Amino acid sequence: MNQALSTHLVLIGLMGSGKTTIGRRVATETSRKFYDTDEMVEEDCGLKVRQIFSQWGEPEFRRLEHVALLTALAKKEPGVIAAAGGVVVSELNRQVLKSARDEGRVRIVWLKADTSVLLWRVQNGVHRPLLDGDPEVAMKAMHDQRSQWYESLASAVISTDKQSALQVVSAVVSVMNEGISHV
Ligand code: S3P
Repeated sequence: MNQALSTHLVLIGLMGSGKTTIGRRVATETSRKFYDTDEMVEEDCGLKVRQIFSQWGEPEFRRLEHVALLTALAKKEPGVIAAAGGVVVSELNRQVLKSARDEGRVRIVWLKADTSVLLWRVQNGVHRPLLDGDPEVAMKAMHDQRSQWYESLASAVISTDKQSALQVVSAVVSVMNEGISHV
């Protein structure tokens, strides 16, 4: 079997990069199960991301997020996993993803976009309490801190700024099937 087909696909990138939308469509198109770490956390504790942040605090959210990531990666059948934007902040998560990538258990795609495009896409910040203050400042800070981690983890990078969702989906599927690394 083509090795690229026997591994999980993990989508990483900042808020608004399209991990959930694109991931869901890729999963449908490739007949895989779709996992979204935010949704898994919400289902697990019966609270919305925003409520978890306000009632339990960000560190507890990050703990739950770590568990969700491990749970998704442990699925036997290859799936499509949307890893929430902040997953890479944890060194442990980065190690887990890097080992899985190096062992060929996951293929990691960074959906990359300019912060101005991301800001435009995240106007509805329902599950994004970190953008409650000045979204521009927060997004820029996240970009500056996290880009190096997305870059170092990515098996492939897809620039989404100038592509439609349909084009990005097809680029991701190509990466999955053919193992190409830049689209
Ligand atoms: C976060 C990203 C959000 C959500 C939470 C924190 C982050 O997920 O987990 O608001 O730290 O980047 P998305 O990347 O799916 O928006």
